[in-house]
Amino acid sequence: MDDDRIKNKPVSEGRRRFLIGSAHTGAAALLLGGGGGVATAKAGTASTSEQVQPDIRATIPTELNVNGMSHRADLDSRMTLLDALREKFGLTGAKKGCDHGQCGACTVLIDGRRELSCLTLSVAAQGREVVTIEGLAENDGRLHPMQQAFIDHDALQCGYCTPGQILSAVSCVREGHAGSSEEIREYMSGNICRCAAYTNIVAAVAQVSQQMGE
Ligand code: FES
Ligand code: FES
Repeated sequence: MDDDRIKNKPVSEGRRRFLIGSAHTGAAALLLGGGGGVATAKAGTASTSEQVQPDIRATIPTELNVNGMSHRADLDSRMTLLDALREKFGLTGAKKGCDHGQCGACTVLIDGRRELSCLTLSVAAQGREVVTIEGLAENDGRLHPMQQAFIDHDALQCGYCTPGQILSAVSCVREGHAGSSEEIREYMSGNICRCAAYTNIVAAVAQVSQQMGE
């Protein structure tokens, strides 16, 4: 097994298991009344083996702030933000590529930072500001400079990776990591483009970086 496979595979799978485990723990707390009150009350009257175990498959009321709007639904505690966006809220801009944190197609902004929505549990995104590609343009329809730059530089072919590339590119510039082609390539390396539009993507990011004085 080469270094990359050793480095990538266990990390993504391990993290996913951790996230799901965390969801179960969090959901259990919610289902048990926030601080595990039901379990505490039962502890006085029943033995440990008789305590009622929460159903981890139960849905829980979830409210997400996406593109400045509140979205509510009863969601499976194990549902990722990516699936909630696409399947529950009809926001299909974030794409499902690998679903394992390795391609960047699902990138969204959470509290202004780029995050992989396939590795983010929907319940964990509550109370945070989520921005998807659908929310990047101005309300009057004017495109974000990065969207315009991608058009100007013909930085997409099939377009599947493009929403994730654009949101990651916005963060790349905001982070101050767009000072050179090499730096842009390094800090955009988490976003894979199977059409290999990389040269034009780098040009688009560089243009916006100059516009923003980075
Ligand atoms: S779909 Fe999330 S990183 Fe590939
Ligand atoms: S434009 Fe096709 S995957 Fe990037």
